[in-house]
Amino acid sequence: MPADKFESLLKIAVEKRALLFGDSRTDCFRLFNGDGDGLDGLTIDYYAGHILVQYFSDAVLSMLDNIIKSITAVSSSFHSAQKSVLVKDRRVIAGSADRNSLWKSRIVDGDYSEERGVVVRQNNTLAKVDLVNGQNTGIFLDMREIRGKLEEFYPVSGIKSMINLFSYTGLFSVHALQNSIPHAVNVDLSKGVLKRAGINYKLNGLAVDDRDFLYGDSMEWIKIFAKKGEVFNFGVFDPPTFARNRKRNFSVKKDYYDSLKKLEKIIPGGYALTSINSYSVSLAEYQSCHPENWELLMFGNESADFINRGNPYLKTGLWKI
Ligand SMILES: C[S@@+](CC[C@H](N)C(=O)[O-])C[C@H]1O[C@@H](n2cnc3c(N)ncnc32)[C@H](O)[C@@H]1O
Repeated sequence: MPADKFESLLKIAVEKRALLFGDSRTDCFRLFNGDGDGLDGLTIDYYAGHILVQYFSDAVLSMLDNIIKSITAVSSSFHSAQKSVLVKDRRVIAGSADRNSLWKSRIVDGDYSEERGVVVRQNNTLAKVDLVNGQNTGIFLDMREIRGKLEEFYPVSGIKSMINLFSYTGLFSVHALQNSIPHAVNVDLSKGVLKRAGINYKLNGLAVDDRDFLYGDSMEWIKIFAKKGEVFNFGVFDPPTFARNRKRNFSVKKDYYDSLKKLEKIIPGGYALTSINSYSVSLAEYQSCHPENWELLMFGNESADFINRGNPYLKTGLWKI
């Protein structure tokens, strides 16, 4: 694609996000979403002035210099100063390559401190992100609208305690605690992300109690709570599409229903927010993964900045058990 053609695509993409640039509650979002914005294999995310470019194909890699030049040329229309540009290689590599080193971003422009990271705001929740290391940065930008919708529900829900399964950096909990939910427990199979969840609590002025950050397999923790008779009013169930650990292979389509039947034991008569992140699972399939007695109260896909030409990939619903 010629450089000027890409620059005009980027300008259009930025214009489409004009409202987000003016949103005082959020300063991180997707600026360019692959095919949806006209160039398959490229995403550009905006993190409070820091720009993360990710390429998923050799074709986009060959255009990278022009892409970076276009970003700098268009950045005056970002309505805020461009602080840095980072580039991450997201091409699929077969075999047992060291993905962590492959995924390490290169800082190609401006000032970015790997040590400090960046603090961003989504729906008025602060999150510390790492734009250099790993596949994900610490915040799921595509969940912004779903979290936003929950702000109307939380204050009238009567929920006293929530369990955030597959919690990642704890942002569903932080956001819920900020929106009148009194207590949250986080469960994740990564000690690193639980530590980052604690950092996000502190950033938002929330007290950190180690008992609210549980390391381990979510399904094992459901069993433990069920055995102890410990219950919650609300559960977030957002597993990775195919999570693996030594003990189990979790396949969304196969295991979802069974897992939710187990989950309902520790949320009797409560609410559950469930999510499936996969193009290959249709809305009808997503709904059919839920127990028959659950009622769908609210539903959402990925946020609108993830402009998509085809079907949405994210299916997230709030259910009454
Ligand atoms: C899709 S992310 C969750 C994102 C989170 N809901 C959010 O919006 O920020 C999935 C998380 O599940 C964790 N995970 C994977 N397998 C797990 C398991 N068996 N039990 C608990 N956590 C697991 C991963 O470490 C990762 O943090």
